[in-house]
Amino acid sequence: MVLRLENKVALITGAGSGIGRAAALLFASEGAKVGCVDLAADLAEETAAMIRANGNESIGIQADVRSAADTQNMVTKAISEFGDLDILFNNAGTGIRGSVHELEEEQWDTVLDINLKGMFLCSKAAIPYFLSRGRGNIVNTASTFSLLATTRYPAYCASKGGVLMLTKQMALDYGPSIRVNCICPGATETPRLRRHINDAQDPIAYEKELASLNVVMGRLADPKEIAYAALFLVSDESSFVTGHALVVDGGQTIDA
Ligand SMILES: NC(=O)c1ccc[n+]([C@@H]2O[C@H](COP(=O)([O-])OP(=O)(O)OC[C@H]3O[C@@H](n4cnc5c(N)ncnc54)[C@H](O)[C@@H]3O)[C@@H](O)[C@H]2O)c1
Repeated sequence: MVLRLENKVALITGAGSGIGRAAALLFASEGAKVGCVDLAADLAEETAAMIRANGNESIGIQADVRSAADTQNMVTKAISEFGDLDILFNNAGTGIRGSVHELEEEQWDTVLDINLKGMFLCSKAAIPYFLSRGRGNIVNTASTFSLLATTRYPAYCASKGGVLMLTKQMALDYGPSIRVNCICPGATETPRLRRHINDAQDPIAYEKELASLNVVMGRLADPKEIAYAALFLVSDESSFVTGHALVVDGGQTIDA
């Protein structure tokens, strides 16, 4: 059986949890050697160990996507460990609730630095290698909030709107040899979302409200359902797709 990512090497940021972990496990099951990157070294290593336990190759890499030195180091490590780099899945992200007048400047900076500057830095670190070998593939995790606004989430919406345009811009600059796409997930059952739900005044009502955002499906997505969309974009099956935002939202944006 030919695997979809046979002999490919992938770096995935935010691989210690949620969508990134689901993607790391899925890409590895399709033959990729995976560098699992996370701010939390223990979580990165935990995902890598899960992959190795399945008989596939993986290493955990501690890196802060806000650091140029860390992002350069993660690329160097993947190439020295696996001898190549084919795929960069820019997925690490965070969110802080609060309208503009409520947000502290440093909260704004944190969200923008992780969600948007982080993708710039990781891409900047990987692209020279992709250019030197004449091919590469970048997928960014955007959001339905790249396309729609929501209440009290300005830094997140602005950062994810930026991710969408960064994706399209890089697809223009680096095609055809490097394809650049993004995924736009709707509400997805990950540890981050679970924390938001548990912190709500009425967690059961809030979970129902979130699930109802994905209007057609009426439920939260499983991280694996998002990972499959990323798998399509990083695989050769999407070889004619670039600059695209693949919406995976159970119908949330259906009438946008
Ligand atoms: N869960 C959702 O409903 C949802 C919906 C749309 C988009 N997204 C996006 O999906 C991505 C993954 O989110 P998730 O829900 O799986 O979250 P998560 O919190 O479960 O996982 C995110 C991971 O990123 C890591 N991380 C955070 N800051 C980092 C940094 N500076 N450097 C390196 N790693 C860092 C965290 O340690 C964590 O392991 C994010 O970009 C998020 O915005 C999530």
